[in-house]
Amino acid sequence: MRNLHQTILIINANDQSSRKAVQAVRARNVYCEVVSPGRFVRDHEEVMQGDIRGMIVAGLSPRIEEEDFKDRIQSVKQDVFYTADGQIDGEFLESFLTVSCGCTGDWTVTNYIGESMALIREQVGDKKLVCGLSGGVDSSVAAMLVHKAVGDQLTCIFVDHGFMRKDEPAMVRDMFSGEYRIPLVMVDAADRFLDKVEGVLEPETKRKLIGEEFIRIFEEEAKKVNADFLVQGTIYPDVIESGEDGKVVKSHHNVGGLPERIHFEGIIEPLRFLFKEEVRAVGRELGLPAAMVERQPFPGPGLAIRCLGGITREKLDILREADAIFREEIEEGGLRDMVSQYFAVMTGLQSVGVEDGARTYDYAIALRAVKTDDFMAALPVEFSWDFLKKVSRRITEEVPHVSRVVYELTGKPPATIEWE
Ligand code: XMP
Repeated sequence: MRNLHQTILIINANDQSSRKAVQAVRARNVYCEVVSPGRFVRDHEEVMQGDIRGMIVAGLSPRIEEEDFKDRIQSVKQDVFYTADGQIDGEFLESFLTVSCGCTGDWTVTNYIGESMALIREQVGDKKLVCGLSGGVDSSVAAMLVHKAVGDQLTCIFVDHGFMRKDEPAMVRDMFSGEYRIPLVMVDAADRFLDKVEGVLEPETKRKLIGEEFIRIFEEEAKKVNADFLVQGTIYPDVIESGEDGKVVKSHHNVGGLPERIHFEGIIEPLRFLFKEEVRAVGRELGLPAAMVERQPFPGPGLAIRCLGGITREKLDILREADAIFREEIEEGGLRDMVSQYFAVMTGLQSVGVEDGARTYDYAIALRAVKTDDFMAALPVEFSWDFLKKVSRRITEEVPHVSRVVYELTGKPPATIEWE
């Protein structure tokens, strides 16, 4: 999408630092874009297009010490500021943006919505669009924004792969089709997916099989809609370049790979330049309920990568119920703010237990809850002992075939947030 705003370029010499710098600049209603030092040199003309008012080099890396980079930076006199850790004194930044760069603070979420809608209308005219809904924040906000722009020219497709959390497909249907009256195709493909992954143990193989099947089904349905444009909920962290190799796109994007299989006239990515918090702000402004806008992240392959040791319908059902109890207790306990992501894991391990005096041989469920700013590093959440005991008691009492509940204490690193 074209950017029409006064822009600050953030040269990304370190992911964390540039992220902080972006947040500080955008908090002052000034638009900024992130570019790697390599691209700044390589695609210089392209990068400098638009109303570039200044630059912030965020972080330290050997690349910004190289001669070609230094030459480039020196050649663009407009204004350059260096920050090693991304922290910038508020007063200094204010003066840098307004006095040195002449930025007037012309970028707000409200403007963004209006401008995006106008651009979408201009780009698609009266043609048809299709959007894959995952139930997550990004695709939901993208769909809402596009629907607001072009109404029923947009059809959403929700592929239920059977690895959704409890009541999730119904929630998506009620909200999009019921409340917002957005044309929605619901595909119940649980059997197809289960057939594919039953008995598969290796996590990457599982992800790959699910990803391929997802694309196949989405392709079948999208062809029926006969759309000219594909809407994707890509957000800025998905496209930010960190390395010298150009773009790093999340390989697990739900409908990634689809454009190579179906010919679309174009891809519409209305959130492409927004960070998660900005996407949430757009969602709120569009009237999406807090329960949707504040949702924690949920991986594309869903519960499949939280169900270890071979997926079966029974294990998925157990996991779904245990997960729902954990989430319910967090919500009811008012603990939502202390956790970034929280879920149950079906460990696949069976162990000996006792129920009504008789021996059982049932499953162990693990609970995972982390606090993180960026999901690249995370710490386990320190719940109260009483809270954990309550969740454990409810799960073992209410979910059949669970005799043991464990709480995970590992951070990331060394563990990842998901177990697979
Ligand atoms: P990890 O497990 O890598 O997860 O520490 C970091 C964050 O990414 C999410 N995640 C995914 N999201 N598709 C997604 O859309 C995926 O395949 C996927 N795998 C992990 C994870 O839930 C966490 O928020």
